[in-house]
Amino acid sequence: MYSIENHSSLPNVAFYQALNEQLNALLSGERDLICNAAQFSAFIMQTLPDLNWAGFYFVRNNELLLGPYVGKVACTRIPFSRGVCGAAARTQSTQRVDDVHAIADHIACDAASNAELVVPILVEGNIKAVFDIDSPKTHRFSEDDQQGIEQLVNTFIQSCDWSWQLS
Ligand code: SME
Repeated sequence: MYSIENHSSLPNVAFYQALNEQLNALLSGERDLICNAAQFSAFIMQTLPDLNWAGFYFVRNNELLLGPYVGKVACTRIPFSRGVCGAAARTQSTQRVDDVHAIADHIACDAASNAELVVPILVEGNIKAVFDIDSPKTHRFSEDDQQGIEQLVNTFIQSCDWSWQLS
């Protein structure tokens, strides 16, 4: 059984460095995109406190299609023109939202969600997916959290074979 250590007492930067080492160990030896996306979603839910949803939307025919995730059932397709996920794909920049109820364009999937972080996934400059995390706590994600999670997403990107990803 793969066991994940609890590093939640460490300061933020050291916490994310320790997580990144565990993530490297978890994903090394496997390059399949779907497998690693499922593992990554579960890893994030298991290691970061105060989350209620974590998962992927993949680019398909100029919209976002739900991929592997952990959490309550979610909307299946999101146009680039809509929602926090659409904004991350459109602008190719991380969207960090302290209070989703203050964002008119937010798409509510789980009523428990109050804060959200969406990281775009770029491979050789092309948008391939977004990784979305929801929290029931407003102001859940700090600048340090954003940087740490972007580093974890980068480790996930490097771990996968993207050659067969449709777009
Ligand atoms: N809140 C997202 C939709 C996806 S769910 O949170 C899983 C958005 O506004 O794009």
